[in-house]
Amino acid sequence: NSQSNQFCEAGIGYGEVGCGISSSTKLLIKGGTVVNAHHQEVADVYVEDGIIVAVKPDLKVSDDVKVIDATGKFVMPGGIDPHTHLAMEFMGTETIDDFFSGQAAALAGGTTMHIDFVIPVNDSLIAGLETYEEKAKKSCMDYGFHMAITKFDDIVSRDMEIIVKEKGINSFKFFLAYKGSLMVNDELLLEGLKRCKSLGALAMVHAENGDAVFEGQKRMIQLGITGPEGHALSRPPVLEGEATARAIRLAGFVNTPLYVVHVMSIDAMEEIAKARKSGQRVVGEPVVSGLVLDDSGLWDSDFATASKYVMSPPIRASGHDKALQGALSNGVLQLVGTDHCVFNSTQKAFGIDDFRKIPNGVNGIEERMHLVWDTMVESGQISITDYVRVTSTECARIFNIYPRKGAIIAGSDADIIILNPNSSFEINARSHHSRTDTNVYEGRRGKGKVEVTIAGGRVVWENNELKVVPGSGKYIEMPPFNYLFSGIDKADASYLSSLNAPVKRSKSTT
Ligand code: URP
Ligand code: ZN
Ligand code: ZN
Ligand code: ZN
Repeated sequence: NSQSNQFCEAGIGYGEVGCGISSSTKLLIKGGTVVNAHHQEVADVYVEDGIIVAVKPDLKVSDDVKVIDATGKFVMPGGIDPHTHLAMEFMGTETIDDFFSGQAAALAGGTTMHIDFVIPVNDSLIAGLETYEEKAKKSCMDYGFHMAITKFDDIVSRDMEIIVKEKGINSFKFFLAYKGSLMVNDELLLEGLKRCKSLGALAMVHAENGDAVFEGQKRMIQLGITGPEGHALSRPPVLEGEATARAIRLAGFVNTPLYVVHVMSIDAMEEIAKARKSGQRVVGEPVVSGLVLDDSGLWDSDFATASKYVMSPPIRASGHDKALQGALSNGVLQLVGTDHCVFNSTQKAFGIDDFRKIPNGVNGIEERMHLVWDTMVESGQISITDYVRVTSTECARIFNIYPRKGAIIAGSDADIIILNPNSSFEINARSHHSRTDTNVYEGRRGKGKVEVTIAGGRVVWENNELKVVPGSGKYIEMPPFNYLFSGIDKADASYLSSLNAPVKRSKSTT
């Protein structure tokens, strides 16, 4: 078919047929520095049938084992991207990277698993999941799902239980923006938070005040500002700070953990810092675009250039990027996603006369590992073990699949990358593996290059060539009650007993 031809021409093979993928199920990665979030050491890694069997110096193996020399290089867990939108119907169109092309791009950049957001169909969670199960059949790497909640009633409440207990999803996302489509109000958010808590599922929020964004958009149109810069001007950081603060306070009131997706501003980050300092369980996810870009591109006079930067919350003015990097290095923010949600320039042009119609989203699934390495490790802001933590291990812990994922230890899945710190990368739309025709990181170069990606024990990226097989990716079930839930019941019990404490009672009656 035309799709496979297109990919073959682009150098992407299709397994045993035609493209000579290695049929070896035994691999030895020799002499590299094996880096986990907790420890690094020079060691060999032996893999059999998709599983890491041994991690030790100087392993001896038989002749039928494929040996990869990693001397002088870092051997790390494959990246896990906690935030993607592949084949998502959104703003009147559909993202053009599907579960094959988006994952192929991911593998070329050293990411071996992602968690995508299931959008309900006519508010039905089950119908939404069935749709995404179909979309994901062509997967060439492992994946999991989050589930968005767009309505709340007895049926949704019951389906949330089925989703958690039978379908392997342990997180639900609430959009506080996108008024008129995905947005939920505070009443729904509260019901959702309560239900998440009872199921041990993690509540996630897109934190922008959707009513105020709507007002801001009207203001821009009235002023005659219809170009892409109007997108940023209509939804300033204060609206992200407000929604982040509100969601955090409501999650605190319910006493359930909260995960704030795509933290784009100092305003939102400071709310997370404050809550964490007080002991509240709040996770903050910066995305690559927020960490390494500023909003200047939105003012480019060329619409195709400016519109490619349109995402929500918007990419902020210079200064927010550096502050978010700092927050990632000091632990206020814990893991890096991408929000990979790509539309080509034809789709972006839907909004040529009105920024409100530009489909929101940027690329990043292929670029994340390189840009985080260059921006955070090469600059000296984080250690290599912290790099593994923020790109892989912490995601696996939060979504409760550690140490099957996010670690190079005996028994873990063989999702492994080899990064050469002395090599370099360069990003451009001509050579990237995404289907989109633009790249928000166009022209960026940096140090560090993922030279080999191993997914499920197969070498899928080597010598700048992809060898991926549609259908080879597995669905990863994620169980509820991650570590953020430990002690929640004790805190509830002490809150309840404090309400009945005689000291308090006498105080309140005087
Ligand atoms: O602009 C964005 N972020 N598009 C994807 C949907 C979302 O809000 O995550
Ligand atoms: Zn080929
Ligand atoms: Zn969002
Ligand atoms: Zn998103």
